Amino acid sequence: MQGQPAPYAAHIWVCVNERADGSKACGNGLGMTLKDLLKAGVAQRGWKGRVRVSHSGCMGLCARGPNVMIHPAGRWFSNVTPADVPAILDEVGTFL
Ligand code: FES
Repeated sequence: MQGQPAPYAAHIWVCVNERADGSKACGNGLGMTLKDLLKAGVAQRGWKGRVRVSHSGCMGLCARGPNVMIHPAGRWFSNVTPADVPAILDEVGTFL
């Protein structure tokens, strides 16, 4: 194993977990849409290579989903909608 510093100034994690039984899960609604919008916003702001957008499985707060988390800032956003994407990116910008 080789430990190293995080390669990104910020890493945005978007839960896209889905549940076939219809119970609340971030991915059942907007998870991948949010990921795509955040990725597009990162590219638009010229942050490619410095800010990474990835999707995750369940992050444990399903009832509040869709959930988005920014590492290493420790910021968490719940009940996220596409309209929230610019505000999330504005906050990411304060970490860069
Ligand atoms: S399904 Fe997203 S936090 Fe559990």
